[in-house]
Amino acid sequence: MRICVIGAGYVGLATGVMFGKLGHKVVCADIDARRVNAVNWGELPFYEPPLEKELRRLIRNGAMRATDDVASSVRDSGVVFICVQTPSLRSGRIDVGPVKAAAVAVGKALRGSRGYKVVVVKSTVVPSTTDSVLKPILERHSQKKSSRDFGLCMNPEFLQEGSALKDSMEPSRIVVGSEDRRAGRLLLSLYKPVNAPMISTDLRSAEMIKYASNVFLATKITYANEIANMCERFGIDSEPVLRAAGLDPRIGALFLRPGLGFGGSCLPKDVKALLDRARSEGYRSKLLSSILAVNESQPDEGIRMLEKELGDLRGKRIAVLGLAFKGGVDDVRETRAVPLITGLLARGARVVAFDPMAMENFIRIMPTIRYASSAGECLKGAEGCIVQADWPEFKKLGRKEFSKMKNRVIVDGRRFLDPEKVRRAGATYLGIGYGSRAP
Ligand SMILES: NC(=O)c1ccc[n+]([C@@H]2O[C@H](COP(=O)([O-])OP(=O)(O)OC[C@H]3O[C@@H](n4cnc5c(N)ncnc54)[C@H](O)[C@@H]3O)[C@@H](O)[C@H]2O)c1
Repeated sequence: MRICVIGAGYVGLATGVMFGKLGHKVVCADIDARRVNAVNWGELPFYEPPLEKELRRLIRNGAMRATDDVASSVRDSGVVFICVQTPSLRSGRIDVGPVKAAAVAVGKALRGSRGYKVVVVKSTVVPSTTDSVLKPILERHSQKKSSRDFGLCMNPEFLQEGSALKDSMEPSRIVVGSEDRRAGRLLLSLYKPVNAPMISTDLRSAEMIKYASNVFLATKITYANEIANMCERFGIDSEPVLRAAGLDPRIGALFLRPGLGFGGSCLPKDVKALLDRARSEGYRSKLLSSILAVNESQPDEGIRMLEKELGDLRGKRIAVLGLAFKGGVDDVRETRAVPLITGLLARGARVVAFDPMAMENFIRIMPTIRYASSAGECLKGAEGCIVQADWPEFKKLGRKEFSKMKNRVIVDGRRFLDPEKVRRAGATYLGIGYGSRAP
C-alpha cells in the first residue's frame, strides 16, 4: 500500500517509519522545506535515536521519503494520515488552524484523484472536530462525498516521546474510529501485523479516547504530587507511600512518581482543550481545573524546599539541571523549567542552566539566563541545585561535581536520584515529597 503522512513531526515520522517497517511505501509531506530536506538525509528534527536509525535505513532503501508536494503525495496514496500539530490557544482551546489547512490541501488533492482513498485524522482533536469541522472541509474541497467517494477515520496516537519507535511498533491498543465499515476495515487491515488490542468505534468516541487517556495520566501525576506535597509537610518520605499504593493493581505503579509537574506537547494542552470543550457544552469540570491549578504551583514546591535550606535566594547562584520537559528528549514544549526558572529569577536568584540535549531549543525561549556547557560546570560555585528533568546522566553526579559547589544542596525535582549516593558525596539531599524527618 502507498501511504501518505501529512506532517513530518514526532507523530508523522513515527507513523511513517512504522508503516515503512511493515513493508509499505511511505511519503511524508510537510510544508517546512528545511524539515523535508533533513528527513531526506535521514535526519530527524528532534532527538529520538532509535527512530532516526530506522528512518535512515528506510530512506536508504527507498521505502520512505519526504516531500513538500502535499497534493501529489496524496494523489499517489491509498491512505492519508493527517499528523499535524494542534497547539493550545491562550484560551486553552486547541488551534485547529493547521489541521484545517491540512484538510484543505488533502481535499483539493482528492478532487483530481481517482480510486477510493481513506483519510485518517491522527492529530489529537477534541470530540466532534473530525465530523463537524474536517469532514465538511474535505467534502467541499474534493467535491466528493465522505463514506461514498472516500473514507474518513479517526485514529488517535498514544506514543510517548523518548520511546516513539517502540510505542509505535508495540502499542498498548489501536483505536480506529470510522463513519463507515469500508474505511474502518481498510485501516484495521493496515494495522493487522501489529500485535495489539484493536478497538473499532465511531469518530467522536475515538477522539474522546485520546483525551480520556491523557487526562487520566495527568490526574495520576497530580495525585502523586499532592500526596508527596502532604507527605513532605507531615515529615514522611512519599517514596514508600506511593510505591506501596502503586502495588495495588487498581492503582498501578507507573506515572506515580512526584515531581515539579507535567509538561510536554500533550498532557497540558489536552487537559486544557478538554476543559474548554466541556465548557462549550455548559459543563465545568472541577477535576480538570484542579489538575491545572496543582500543576501550575508544583514548580514552586522545589523553590520552597531550596528556600527552607538556603533562606533568601536573592543574589544566590542556583543551578538548574535539565531543561527538557523530561529526561531523554530535547522537547521543551510546556517544560516546567520555564515556571521554575521564572520563579527563581523573581526571587532574585542568579540562574545557571544545563541540559544534555535541549539547550538549543530552550535558549530560544529564555535567551537571557546563563547556560553552562556541562552539568559539572553548571554546579561550579552554585549555592543550590534543582534537578528538573530525569536525565540518566545526572544520576552519575558525585563528589567530584558536588565538591565544586559553594553550598551543596540538591533538590531532586523528579525523585529519581539515589538519596544515599548524594549524601555520600557530601551533599544535602531534598526531594519532592521527601520529609525533613525522613531517613
Ligand atoms: N508528540 C507527541 O508525543 C504526541 C503523542 C501523541 C499525539 N500527539 C498529537 O499528534 C499531533 C502532532 O503532534 P507532533 O508532536 O507530531 O507535532 P509536531 O509539531 O512535531 O509536527 C507537526 C508537523 O506538521 C507540519 N505541518 C503543519 N501544517 C502542515 C500542513 N498543512 N501540511 C503539511 N505539514 C504540516 C509541521 O511543519 C510539523 O513538521 C498533535 O495533535 C499532538 O497532540 C503528539
